[in-house]
Amino acid sequence: MKPIKIKPDIYWVGAIDWDLRNFHGYLTQRGSTYNSYLIIDEKITLVDTVKHYKFDEMAARIKQVIDPSKIDYIICNHVEMDHSGSIPKMLEIAPNAKIFASPNGKRGLEFHFKVADDVQVVKQGDEIKIGKRTLQFYPITMVHWPDSMMTYCPEEKLLMPNDAFGQHIASSQRYADELEWGLVYEEASKYYANIVMPYGPMVNKALKIASGLDIDMIAPSHGLIWRKDLGKIISHYAKWANNETEEKAVIVYDSMWHSTEKLAYALHDGLEDAGVPTVMRSLQANHISDVIADVLTSKGVFIGSPTLNNGMLPTMGGFLTYMGGLKPTKRIGFAFGSYGWGGQSIKEIHKFIVDLKWEAPFEGFNVQYIPSEEKLAEIRETGGKLGEMIKKKVPVES
Ligand code: FEO
Repeated sequence: MKPIKIKPDIYWVGAIDWDLRNFHGYLTQRGSTYNSYLIIDEKITLVDTVKHYKFDEMAARIKQVIDPSKIDYIICNHVEMDHSGSIPKMLEIAPNAKIFASPNGKRGLEFHFKVADDVQVVKQGDEIKIGKRTLQFYPITMVHWPDSMMTYCPEEKLLMPNDAFGQHIASSQRYADELEWGLVYEEASKYYANIVMPYGPMVNKALKIASGLDIDMIAPSHGLIWRKDLGKIISHYAKWANNETEEKAVIVYDSMWHSTEKLAYALHDGLEDAGVPTVMRSLQANHISDVIADVLTSKGVFIGSPTLNNGMLPTMGGFLTYMGGLKPTKRIGFAFGSYGWGGQSIKEIHKFIVDLKWEAPFEGFNVQYIPSEEKLAEIRETGGKLGEMIKKKVPVES
């Protein structure tokens, strides 16, 4: 439980949650961290805290650097309790600390902990001198809550943007460049898809602010710190914020008696014929928080469910509700499924696609009971057409 020096007199003093597997419904198979940063200057400053049950771990790291009672300032970039949950206990061991938060942060802290009297509000561009260093504050509303803000230290070229640029990874390593890029990318993109995706316009504003700052390190509040090739993760954020996707597809489906599954695989064959990489995501085998990461980067999102009790399967209802909240745009959608006598699932899924304002070149594909060879050939052909649309060889309207 050592503090890790990330800059001269600046330490990571967060906590590693190795056992975390569910973050309000988001499966975190690799655990997570809650990152706090301790700055030793004339005014000793702690940037963010950790979940309440990780307080002892954070306090142990702090105590290896300094007596916590000497902490002057606590910066609360974000009130969500994975970052603010230890503030009440911190105030017990750092009784003279003043808290800095955005206006919404102050309100949030009052609701959560009744500590608003200790909070000084900071607004866009405000700064405080803490000695040799300056801390500047930039609200990034809705990335991830209305209170969210970034703290920037120009003397150290250090940006602490809280949730932005985070990943749910528990690791002995502290820097993104110490792990294999594929793993870090997988978790950074899954994090964006599940936490940040609805707020693309606000992410763009945050990126614009960041582009005007001289930064050589991005220290988020979850996972690994970015200190090399910052342009790489920033450019991915820019793409994701603008709903730019890749020429690939994801087929999300569930099935009762394998008919919808047969359609899903025939559709896959058609996409394969067109040369479009396509992943199969059965909702019986995949969690929605993993599937949404495929949606983040896929131009084609094709959705299949049989009809049950005059509607779609509840697994699909859950997935679409989740995806609807995350609001991906600029996709090509397609509904397919099987039915016995009602057939309503396709209409429901198609309406969902239309409501998201995706391109929907086909009304949907519905098969009674078991798909014949002819029907499988038909949906395979449709898959081929959708593949060509993904590759932009033919206009989506055709
Ligand atoms: Fe990591 Fe929105 O809290």
